[in-house]
Amino acid sequence: MDLQEEDDDDIDINPFTMLLLDDQQEDGDVRLPTVDENQQLQQHCIRSIESTLLIRQIRSEGLSFQLWPAATTLFTLLDRHRCQTSTSPLAATLSSLSKCQVPRRLRILELGSGTGLVGIAAAAALGADITVTDLPHVLSNLQFNVDANADVLAQQGGTVNVAPLSWGDADHMETIGREYDLILGSDVVYHDHLYDPLIQTLRFFLLGGEKKVVFVMAHLRRWKKESAFFKMAKKLFDVEIIHTDGPSEGSRVGVRVYRFGGKRRILNAVPKSL
Ligand SMILES: C[S@@+](CC[C@H](N)C(=O)[O-])C[C@H]1O[C@@H](n2cnc3c(N)ncnc32)[C@H](O)[C@@H]1O
Repeated sequence: MDLQEEDDDDIDINPFTMLLLDDQQEDGDVRLPTVDENQQLQQHCIRSIESTLLIRQIRSEGLSFQLWPAATTLFTLLDRHRCQTSTSPLAATLSSLSKCQVPRRLRILELGSGTGLVGIAAAAALGADITVTDLPHVLSNLQFNVDANADVLAQQGGTVNVAPLSWGDADHMETIGREYDLILGSDVVYHDHLYDPLIQTLRFFLLGGEKKVVFVMAHLRRWKKESAFFKMAKKLFDVEIIHTDGPSEGSRVGVRVYRFGGKRRILNAVPKSL
């Protein structure tokens, strides 16, 4: 499917999908309108493996502690991939990875994991080794959620490691390394000051190593300005839409899932020390 970013003024004003910029904190995080200031432990059923994941959200702590709509889309696709592999929107991406790798478990890195639902679900549904990452202050809740699902992970043979990764931070990226087959992200494109660091991070993981690595990103478009991120991305990567959800009630757009792969001419030109 061709990538087409609409250029209309379509702005989603559903309070759950809208970020309140006026309420921004010093660290760039923002507080969301809270329905309930208490911690919430939610159950997410992965039908394909007849298991339930437990995820703690702490809405009062800000957006990193809340589950976002695009995460639910990726979670659903991972579950579907496990039980209907041939028709899954992730099939082409995941099968091409397993064909070109030596037979071993997939190694997946998730950027901006937040509560960790996507990474934990990927480990359980794919039996993969996942590194979930986020800003340092988010990691204790992320670790809590990984620990809460230790039994399911042990049953399914997947592992989840928690690590700090602030986008564009060279030390964090070098420490994590490039031993990944696939990079995942959900709802990671929102504040425009994060576009550059996120692109730098994608350059490091997608263009800087020896092997072909792709980024699968679920995204709910909120603002017209986001087209600037996609314009930057398309200079370096081939960007393709692999799935689109129907819009949720009250919205005009649904979550889209994109696949980013390094453009061949860029891959050939980039020094391996990038
Ligand atoms: C809108 S939330 C989405 C969280 C989660 N992926 C989901 O879909 O539920 C964006 C995530 O990106 C993380 N983030 C924001 N700025 C970041 C940065 N500079 N480096 C790394 N992560 C960042 C936030 O902490 C947050 O967890």
